[in-house]
Amino acid sequence: MTPIDVSEHPAADDSGGQLHGAAVQMVMDDLKQLWFSGKSLFDVLDVVYEAMRQIIPFDRMSVAFYNEETGMVVSRWVRSETEVKRVDKGYWAELKGSSLEPILRTGRPRIINNLEQHLAERPDSRATQDILKDGVMSNLTCPLRAGNHAIGLLFFSSRKPDTYRPGHIDTFLAVADSLSLAVEKVKYLDDLAQAKRNYAQILYFVAHELKAPLASIATIGSTLTEGYLGKLTPQQTEKVQRMIANSSYLTNLVRDYLDLSQIETGEMKYQPGPAVDLVEEVIRPMVEIQTPAARARGMTLEADLEYLVAPCDATLLKVVFNNLLGNAVRYGRENTKVLVRLVRRSFSDYNDAGEHIRQYWALFSVRNEGVGFAPEQKQKLFARFQRLHHPEHKGVTGSGLGLYISRQIVIRHGGEITADSEPGKWAEFRFRIPLRQEAPLVDAPA
Ligand SMILES: Nc1ncnc2c1ncn2[C@@H]1O[C@H](COP(=O)(O)OP(=O)(O)O)[C@@H](O)[C@H]1O
Ligand SMILES: [Mg+2]
Repeated sequence: MTPIDVSEHPAADDSGGQLHGAAVQMVMDDLKQLWFSGKSLFDVLDVVYEAMRQIIPFDRMSVAFYNEETGMVVSRWVRSETEVKRVDKGYWAELKGSSLEPILRTGRPRIINNLEQHLAERPDSRATQDILKDGVMSNLTCPLRAGNHAIGLLFFSSRKPDTYRPGHIDTFLAVADSLSLAVEKVKYLDDLAQAKRNYAQILYFVAHELKAPLASIATIGSTLTEGYLGKLTPQQTEKVQRMIANSSYLTNLVRDYLDLSQIETGEMKYQPGPAVDLVEEVIRPMVEIQTPAARARGMTLEADLEYLVAPCDATLLKVVFNNLLGNAVRYGRENTKVLVRLVRRSFSDYNDAGEHIRQYWALFSVRNEGVGFAPEQKQKLFARFQRLHHPEHKGVTGSGLGLYISRQIVIRHGGEITADSEPGKWAEFRFRIPLRQEAPLVDAPA
């Protein structure tokens, strides 16, 4: 890339003229648009880079954020027309006692037009040494502030000495508010996204660490109740059984947290097989798992299943089906039936090419008798950590994550999940996944 000669930037040099005033106005308008743009931090900074080049000369621009918690200024973004060797993204400095502090405090930009001379006056400045090694000779350092609060700093740099004039400070100050607001908004979103990633990682770490010890508690418990280490009294057996039940509750919770963290980080493993037998590979194994719990509540599981084969991830669909069936068994009424169905449904549609096609779906449903839910509670069901509280379900434990996770998995399959209920009578959860796409329907030749 050819280096930009700042003196060849007419708008940049014409800092007093009408042309310049119009350019400043245009940049301000561009920056205001940015708040509404929904762009990410880095996209916004790219736009800022292009916009600012029309009104201030530079061949490198960088943004550093001030972190109140740590007292550090950390470089978050650098874009340069020449190679950046030292002061790159991640470069940090302590704000307190540095020459950046008064800039942020007073809101006044600072010009250094000869960094070599500046270093001679402050030979200990690590940042000055490093920026010189990057070939920078002049610097215009501008504060980013929103209201009373310091966001960070914007650095304009040039490889030529003597680049910046007081007029450039005025130019920056004219756009400072719009610029700071745009950057603050995206920084805020960026911080939120980072916080969400941190939370998902912690969730994963904690859940992952709990998994093995919990499994071992259950195994040791079973060894005891089964009498391998000597016969237990009825009272001892009862206590150990409670221990096993509690650890199995925690194991389920941990499983939900692991799934959630995978979804939140976008790392959910989706490994579809081309032809999964939905009855034998998804439904039956889960019916088997839930049968003892159903029996314990005097419930029977009835199945009405069509033989269907679909391209899907059986491991993930088992999670969905197990959750729906588990909910029916836990939230359904004692001594009633739970009905499990799998049927094929089809409807005709138009594909992206505008061709008439027939689309086939596998429709799963799980229906139980019980208190169900009111129509206005429906939207809550599929949200994270949401549980309805009904007196009849007192003592039923759960994470409030099962339906959220299920919905994410079904969506991943290109399907849809829905819930229906007649309050006080029954609840039914249904989901569908695409079977295979039929070839376009061609009119039969005459
Ligand atoms: N079959 C059902 N009948 C009535 N309420 C249900 C049923 N299934 C789910 N719910 C309600 O939806 C909530 C969310 O379900 P879910 O996401 O699976 O979380 P969890 O089962 O861990 O509470 C449950 O707490 C319950 O209040
Ligand atoms: Mg559940």
